[in-house]
Amino acid sequence: MGSILINIFPKLIYEHLAKTHQGGIVMEYVKTGITEFDHLFAHGGYPKNNTILVLGGPGSGKSIFGMQFIYMGATLYDEAGVFVTLEETPEKIRRNMASFGWDIAELEESGKISILDAVSSRIEAQDIEMDILERGFDVETMATSLDKHIKRIGARRVVIDSLAVMGMYAKSEFESRTKLLRLIDVLSQKEVTSLVITEARTSEIGVTEFPPETFMFDGVISMRLNTDTQERKIAIRKMRGTKHVLGTFNFNIEEGGISVRP
Ligand SMILES: Nc1ncnc2c1ncn2[C@@H]1O[C@H](COP(=O)(O)OP(=O)(O)O)[C@@H](O)[C@H]1O
Ligand SMILES: [Mg+2]
Repeated sequence: MGSILINIFPKLIYEHLAKTHQGGIVMEYVKTGITEFDHLFAHGGYPKNNTILVLGGPGSGKSIFGMQFIYMGATLYDEAGVFVTLEETPEKIRRNMASFGWDIAELEESGKISILDAVSSRIEAQDIEMDILERGFDVETMATSLDKHIKRIGARRVVIDSLAVMGMYAKSEFESRTKLLRLIDVLSQKEVTSLVITEARTSEIGVTEFPPETFMFDGVISMRLNTDTQERKIAIRKMRGTKHVLGTFNFNIEEGGISVRP
């Protein structure tokens, strides 16, 4: 029923159902700003405050997808956002995102975006001693910094890019699983909708092995680049709290960032 209505009245429904009442509870939804992607959700976006895993191979577009969520929140939906970077330096991110016409520095100055630089602290820590390196990746340390950034700009969106690096420093599978649980707990306790990016273990083209931690997230989105056909694909594998379209959709990375083909 929902999907039939969506096909007939896309705009109407999405503009008006940013909030719904379901079972006596007010549900709110958060748009990514990628129009055709938002249209895959019954209410035009992620359920507010969901913690969502974004899974994909290298170069599949995860970092761009993450920053687009933050950028669109800041510019279109009056939701400030924190981008936690563990892989690329903030300077590099600003430069990469400028290729889509996104002026990240300006939004940082106006308090709409905050980049939490966990790369530089890692490099500095490396020079001093291993112990600090580990503490730098301590979930509690990150939680404290994240909290400061969220409060400073009143953030409603958070992106962590990426978990792959965090896992590298855990001593065992058990430890990294425990850290991850704690991270999800920290994110869930805050009034933020978050994307947690991680590297997918792709066993062969098109087949993605799902890491066991996927069940801990409210949602799972997978992205991939098929190097044979040069096609990029995105799919919503799971999203608690909303009906969504199943299936895999093509997307492009072009001048304005990611756009999903209907
Ligand atoms: N300005 C741009 N225009 C089109 N495609 C781009 C642009 N910038 C980056 N890309 C594409 O995006 C890819 C990197 O995306 P990214 O989000 O960094 O991947 P991931 O984080 O999954 O490793 C590049 O390999 C390139 O194919
Ligand atoms: Mg990346």
